[in-house]
Amino acid sequence: MAQPTRDRVLPNAEMSRWLYYLCRGVLPNMRIGILTGGGDCPGLNAVIRAVVRKGIMHYDDQFVGFMEGWRGVYENKTMDVDMDAISGILPRGGTILRTSRTNPAKREGGLQRCMEVLRANRVEALIAIGGDDTMSVAQRMYELGLKVVGVPKTIDNDLMGTDFCFGFDTAVNTATEAIDRVHTTAEAHQRVIVVEVMGRDSGWIAMYSGIAGGADVILIPERPFDIEEVAERIRMRHARGRYFSIIVVAEGAKFTKDGNAPVGDVGKDEFGHVRLGGIGQILANEIEHRTGLETRNVVLGHIQRGGTPSAFDRVLASRYGIGAIDQVHKGEFGVMVALRGTDIVTIPLVDAIHKTRPVDPELVEVAMGLIDPIPTAPVNK
Ligand code: F6P
Repeated sequence: MAQPTRDRVLPNAEMSRWLYYLCRGVLPNMRIGILTGGGDCPGLNAVIRAVVRKGIMHYDDQFVGFMEGWRGVYENKTMDVDMDAISGILPRGGTILRTSRTNPAKREGGLQRCMEVLRANRVEALIAIGGDDTMSVAQRMYELGLKVVGVPKTIDNDLMGTDFCFGFDTAVNTATEAIDRVHTTAEAHQRVIVVEVMGRDSGWIAMYSGIAGGADVILIPERPFDIEEVAERIRMRHARGRYFSIIVVAEGAKFTKDGNAPVGDVGKDEFGHVRLGGIGQILANEIEHRTGLETRNVVLGHIQRGGTPSAFDRVLASRYGIGAIDQVHKGEFGVMVALRGTDIVTIPLVDAIHKTRPVDPELVEVAMGLIDPIPTAPVNK
């Protein structure tokens, strides 16, 4: 009996592969660009890995990586992204594509130049992984005709249209562990410790890590705070016998009085963001002054953005990556993959960028339910 030869077997395999594509209504064998923009975040590599594995193994795609976010598109800085490039990257923080906060829309002819570079690289579709800034450029490029799919990333978890961004869970775990650690010192030395976490416009990290770490006061950008009220909470707690306290404050939290979070003196980035930081120290000084209790400040900073992604973030990032590459092959663009409840869905990019997502008021209620109520003056009838 004739043995099947390589020549006989391959056309059949090819045919069933094409039948598979036809039945699903997808276009195989595309050349796809991929980039990571904005602040780095645990799980970026897991998204890249998922996109590339499914793209190469299931759709016969080829990938071109644009380095350093939109800067790589603007400056035509690329790297080959193949199976070798993604090997072993699932648990690694950061991004093999590197990143930047470059905004080509801020440069004369910048978006047109990006379109030309993408054409020169024969890119048929682009997957852009980033936060609201990266998505806002993706939307502008989509309006110019680019076939683009977005993937939501930010430890701040403040992107509209999705319940969770990958990277947030890892950042919360890191911040919670830090709060647990300073708790023991606060207790041993009878101190107040202020922990400053990231969160420019929204206090998701502060709220989650504050609740998880048992903080006594949680301050977020969405709710400007009165410093005397914070001092009073600490006094009340100590009056009922507690001898240490933990305050978690988001970097973007504001005093009701002067209304602005403190900023560094380094100007703005290309998306118009100032560099935040310093609220924790100001708060610590004020609390010590007003309560007479020794108060220290710890700034977690980029420690929250580093390290290996949590299992939750690895799974979410993988789901987003598979969602994005499938979306490219469905041929529907100008969208971002998103998590709604337990489902991965897509939403128009425009819906993700018009404003940042504030902390859920129900979470604020939870936090308030866990601490002393401030007695209010009786209402005169
Ligand atoms: O990615 C968002 C964020 O983590 C903000 O919370 C913070 O203000 C900012 O990044 C800091 O970014 P950079 O590393 O560029 O200073």
